[in-house]
Amino acid sequence: MSLAHRSTILSPSLTLGIDSKAKAMKAEGLDVCSFAAGEPDFDTPDHIKQACIAAINAGMTKYTPSAGIPELRQAISAKFKADNDLDYPASQIIVSNGAKHSCLNAILACVGEGDEVIIPAPYWLSYPEMVRIAGGEPIIVQTSEENGWKMTADEFQDAMSPRTKMVILNSPGNPTGAVYTKEELEELGEVALSEDILILSDEIYEKLTYDDVKHVSIASLSKELYNLTITVNGFSKAYAMTGWRLGYLGAPEHIAKAIDAIQSHSTSGCTSFAQKGALAALTGDQSPLEDMRSEFDIRRQYMVDRLSKIPKVTLVVPQGAFYVLANISGFGLTSTNFADKLLSKHHVAIVPGIAFGDDRTVRLSYATSLDVINKGLDRFEAFCKEL
Ligand SMILES: Cc1ncc(COP(=O)(O)O)c(C=O)c1O
Repeated sequence: MSLAHRSTILSPSLTLGIDSKAKAMKAEGLDVCSFAAGEPDFDTPDHIKQACIAAINAGMTKYTPSAGIPELRQAISAKFKADNDLDYPASQIIVSNGAKHSCLNAILACVGEGDEVIIPAPYWLSYPEMVRIAGGEPIIVQTSEENGWKMTADEFQDAMSPRTKMVILNSPGNPTGAVYTKEELEELGEVALSEDILILSDEIYEKLTYDDVKHVSIASLSKELYNLTITVNGFSKAYAMTGWRLGYLGAPEHIAKAIDAIQSHSTSGCTSFAQKGALAALTGDQSPLEDMRSEFDIRRQYMVDRLSKIPKVTLVVPQGAFYVLANISGFGLTSTNFADKLLSKHHVAIVPGIAFGDDRTVRLSYATSLDVINKGLDRFEAFCKEL
């Protein structure tokens, strides 16, 4: 029995794979320093957990409307207005099982067989696979360190063809930590508007920016851009809620309706009581978020400082998310070779850039304690000296 074509063209998530390998080595008793994590190492704030527990105790254990409970969609609508200057009424908001699911839903609703989707690299590794699941073709635009790992309007323009349907923007970005400025988004927006290209704007790391950098939502820049954009966000990174599997999107009405139809026939919506936790996250005390962000910032500066001093390693200082992307091409190894050797010889787990479409780089996550960062970087440095 042969499998459907779509399942034969996908590769398993390399980041999740490396994380499991590091965990397995730890379970064997090895002292592994892991920089592979894609999730905050903080616990979900207590008031969020309590709201969820209260919901279970109150018997909120049944199906909810597939697009999400009305009070959560309302709170997301208010959040979009307050934080992003975006007018998405609750009816245009769909709550899904993580921002990953929101992205997939958006792509399934908009991208068809043979459509091209422009993705700047280094990219979050699921985007090209999602496009392939939908029958589309990912068109990768290689960005450069010189431009801060950001796609320029010219690069975007050059990648367009009559089949271009969508562009995916991710700011703050994983794995680069790059944050697009308002002016850069305006320039990209002009290119998208010239050919009515849909924009999937993944803003999951919105709350994690540093150096007074301001996150801007491209959909807020004009009515025309609003009409072309699907804005994705979620609870995983901002509120340390990765295991809750809750994300959301705001979209023009006809797109939101199409996504709701897809979701109603696939997951029937999200876990009922988890949505009450998400509501508490948005409406409750925001100070745990700021505490987490400040801690990330300390680690970011430490990691950047140490990596910058290693001969042959170059990097762009990340302004968002919780990753540093280091260029290790000066050592003459592929990113996979570099990462494999570092893990087996020095027990340090990192993600090879090939997973993100850039074999010159490796990604180090600082979503781990300063102690681990310190020890891991000592080993990283020793490894680089040996090469
Ligand atoms: C850029 C980006 N978008 C979306 C996600 C998925 O987040 P969620 O846990 O909400 O599905 C991730 C997670 O690593 C990410 O890095």
